[in-house]
Amino acid sequence: MRQGKSGQWAATATDRPLDLAHAWWKQAVIYQIYPRSFQDSNGDGIGDLAGIHQRLDDLVQLGVDAIWLSPFYRSPMADFGYDVRDHVGVDPIFGDMADFRALMAACRGHGLKLIVDYIPNHVSDQHLWFAESRSSRVNPRRDWFIWRDAAPDGGPPNNWRSEFGGPAWTWDPRREQYYYHAFLSSQPDLNWRHPDVVEAMLNVMRFWLDRGVDGFRVDAIHHLMEREDLADNPPNPLWREGMDPADRLVRAGTVDQPDVHRAVAAMRRVLDEYPGEQVLIGEAYLPLDRLVAYYGGPADGFHLPFNFHLIATPWTPVAVAALVCAYERRLPAHGWPNWVLSNHDRSRLVSRIGAAQARVAAMLLLTLRGTPTLYQGDELGMADVAIAPDQVRDPLEINVPGLGLGRDPARTPMLWSDRPFAGFSTVAPWLPLSSDWRDLNAERQKRVPGSLLNLYKALLALRRTEPVLRLGDYVPIVATGRILAYERRLGGDRALVVLNMTGVPETIVAPSGEILLTTDGADHGPHEAGPLLVMPHQGLVMRVC
Ligand code: NOJ
Repeated sequence: MRQGKSGQWAATATDRPLDLAHAWWKQAVIYQIYPRSFQDSNGDGIGDLAGIHQRLDDLVQLGVDAIWLSPFYRSPMADFGYDVRDHVGVDPIFGDMADFRALMAACRGHGLKLIVDYIPNHVSDQHLWFAESRSSRVNPRRDWFIWRDAAPDGGPPNNWRSEFGGPAWTWDPRREQYYYHAFLSSQPDLNWRHPDVVEAMLNVMRFWLDRGVDGFRVDAIHHLMEREDLADNPPNPLWREGMDPADRLVRAGTVDQPDVHRAVAAMRRVLDEYPGEQVLIGEAYLPLDRLVAYYGGPADGFHLPFNFHLIATPWTPVAVAALVCAYERRLPAHGWPNWVLSNHDRSRLVSRIGAAQARVAAMLLLTLRGTPTLYQGDELGMADVAIAPDQVRDPLEINVPGLGLGRDPARTPMLWSDRPFAGFSTVAPWLPLSSDWRDLNAERQKRVPGSLLNLYKALLALRRTEPVLRLGDYVPIVATGRILAYERRLGGDRALVVLNMTGVPETIVAPSGEILLTTDGADHGPHEAGPLLVMPHQGLVMRVC
């Protein structure tokens, strides 16, 4: 292994041949674990690493290939771990380094890849680096954060807004300067234009790579750099009362700055110091044309810049087909697609499109070309849980209440069994359980042949046995008012996917073939070329022959 020496921007050659045609992460299905809500092992109502360890068999049975853990690092938990106090320590809430090592080894034993969260944009205000930086203007770490003098009127240096409400600048009385924070005031932004910051943060990656992780999900990458001249962000003409106040301004100077790509390239080079095929995944909420730039060149961008566009696209065949085509068309030659239907920051899938369409969505996610990421609980059909005012934990909802921005509803505990607290914990959990836990829990769904959980298992099993579903080209067939149909093609193999995205039946003309799987468990077997009735909310996969 070649250890990197510094965080300099200059390119270093990699001695690894760049043939990633069948890299594991192209064929894998990634499962996102939000550790606080996955499995509590020590009876404190909060999930932990040992709990995840206990549940690995369930994930193997489900059929996923990799897990991505949201942060488990030492943190005051103002943003539930996305405010890191120590990048290389496990927060006691989640366990300790021995638990991490045991989990890592168990993942290896189960054939699961382990991806960890990496949060480069900001740290907790309780991080030593920030404590030093704010201590004086002569401290060696004085420029590790983004400090600016007040405007002539004593106010913040410009009009930039925090994503979590209020100005993006907070006054520090000791330094008598403002510091910039894209998120909470307790999450100061690191200054990635400072070489020592780059070096320190790249060393965080090396720390976890040395411990065997299979890759990183890089948090909020589009926020990493800001315009150096601090020009005001312009008003957003589309903003209306009742919308997210952070959207009042166009984020012209605060996201997606050109030199972010140099930082991504530096991260990518760290991965290339290691043998193996570690994956670099980037979290960026950007329009497609901006998002695909994050693939960079063949060796200097993200392997997978997360594609969140299915989350916000209207759930109609025409809109989804247009999205898939636009995305496929824009991908660079070396760019491997990926799809995300939900995560810990967005409303649950079932709450967005309904339980019936969630089955269709599962088929879409697992048959589109590219790497899918599943969010824990989607395989059970968990919906957003109503959070009473005294149960609100999310700082976004606390700071910007009443606009439906809160993320607690999508972060409630997993529903494992019909034991007390759904088998998640032995005490009342940190967020309330979904009231339908007796029906939706995994143990129960395992026993019900047509359950959503069993549909996910069948889809994941089909992906495993059918290379065409993992690696085949995407060929659009038709998008009507009700039906979305596409094929996957690999060599001579063709798999036709037909999704009825409405509650109205539709007859299509289908080629001859064999129906391999339907979302409702019906109509398996051969089909003669000709009319095929697609039932309401039904999806099917057919081998064309
Ligand atoms: C993105 C994370 O997914 C979200 O949960 C967090 O609040 C922000 N980044 C800030 O770190």
